Amino acid sequence: MTRNTTRALTTAVLLLLSGSVLAQQLPQLKPDEVIRYRKAGYAFMNWNMTKLKAMLDGSVPFNKDQALAAAASINSTVNSGMGALYTPGSDKDSGNEKTRLKSEFFTQPDKVKEVAGAYRIAGTKLAAAAATGDPSQIKPAFDEMGKACKGCHEAFRKD
Ligand code: HEC
Repeated sequence: MTRNTTRALTTAVLLLLSGSVLAQQLPQLKPDEVIRYRKAGYAFMNWNMTKLKAMLDGSVPFNKDQALAAAASINSTVNSGMGALYTPGSDKDSGNEKTRLKSEFFTQPDKVKEVAGAYRIAGTKLAAAAATGDPSQIKPAFDEMGKACKGCHEAFRKD
């Protein structure tokens, strides 16, 4: 592991720990806004994962800049403090917004930490891999991120 990777991972862990402190300094959102922004964040990441997947499986030509943009967008979404969008009660539909968040999210903090930690590490690795411009390095990092997405969905997203 390079020194830069170690430093990035340390920063990721510190960000994770400071998440709850930061949340207290943010503006209050209405429950339907919380759900809307949360779903939008994940939908945006999904678009970027879809682009990477298409480049990696050859259904569109590999483009270094597109891959870098997609990975950077994913990693910045990972580090955007979306934890603040998990306000108590946001596992219930609100206004026009339906949610698939499972209530277990609020009762299994250790599992939340586990999936969030894997996700942050995967984000850092994906951004670093995309910076190499080498699809053979991006592929395993993409797969690791895919597993991190799935790990959280299996635990905390309804079908
Ligand atoms: C920390 C847990 C967690 C991680 C990590 C996570 N998700 Fe999700 N995701 C959720 C939850 C919870 C929902 C349901 C949100 C809701 O309905 O309020 C969701 C919803 C979604 C949705 C549906 C959004 C919508 O408009 O309803 C997509 C698409 C999605 N995630 C993709 C991804 C992708 C791609 C990744 C990885 C790059 C990812 N998610 C990582 C928890 C997670």
